[in-house]
Amino acid sequence: SSKRLDIITVFPEMVMQVARYGVVGKAVERGLAEIAVWNPRDYAEDRHGTVDDRPYGGGPGMVMKAAPLRAAIRSARLADGRPARVIYLSPQGQRLDQQGVARLARHKRLILLCGRYEGIDERLIEAEVDEEVSIGDYVLSGGELPAMVVVDAIVRMIPGVLGHEDSAAEDSFATGLLDHPHYTRPDDFEGRTVPRVLRSGDHGAVEEWRLKQALGRTWLRRPELLSNRELEPRQQKLLDE
Ligand code: ADE
Repeated sequence: SSKRLDIITVFPEMVMQVARYGVVGKAVERGLAEIAVWNPRDYAEDRHGTVDDRPYGGGPGMVMKAAPLRAAIRSARLADGRPARVIYLSPQGQRLDQQGVARLARHKRLILLCGRYEGIDERLIEAEVDEEVSIGDYVLSGGELPAMVVVDAIVRMIPGVLGHEDSAAEDSFATGLLDHPHYTRPDDFEGRTVPRVLRSGDHGAVEEWRLKQALGRTWLRRPELLSNRELEPRQQKLLDE
């Protein structure tokens, strides 16, 4: 299959549940993406399955032990002949954006490492992790939801996964802009009607309206997205009018 994602987590069922639905579920069904999970508890050194311990230096909470994580990562690596890039999900990582997703999506294999508790032993990060990734400046109680965010964002970029081949390229942020509004039937919903141009059949006019909407919303809601990047000539012309 074209892409393989291995997830190291103490909650494998949580991750596999999510992977059953929607675009990701379909991609797995069709063999376009392969998702596997590895539980560090299965690699614990004692018979209780201990994966965490008290922090050196004291303080609240627990720290994930290096050895069970290392063993789980080893098994994941060996499950496939191809080399894998190891990503640790953490708020200390580089913040993810669509460009970052596109970069991650170029790798055939990723191992996504999910932490729980206060964090994982720094020596495991030094020894095994290639890259630390954050999904945003807020703290979650584990790396599982962030890992699923990364899985979803990557899988939908695999060629053939989205129904319409251009869907990924037309997505919000792929164009560098926020999306335009969408409408479907009925034409009148409790007195709110669909913009006339969308029912005109004039494809050129529809395209221009959508671009104007996308530019206008980006300008109003996320102006920094416009100042941070070069617009296409067609977009700049509309903005200059
Ligand atoms: N783990 C906990 N919070 C996180 C975040 N914001 N991004 C990635 N991993 C996390």
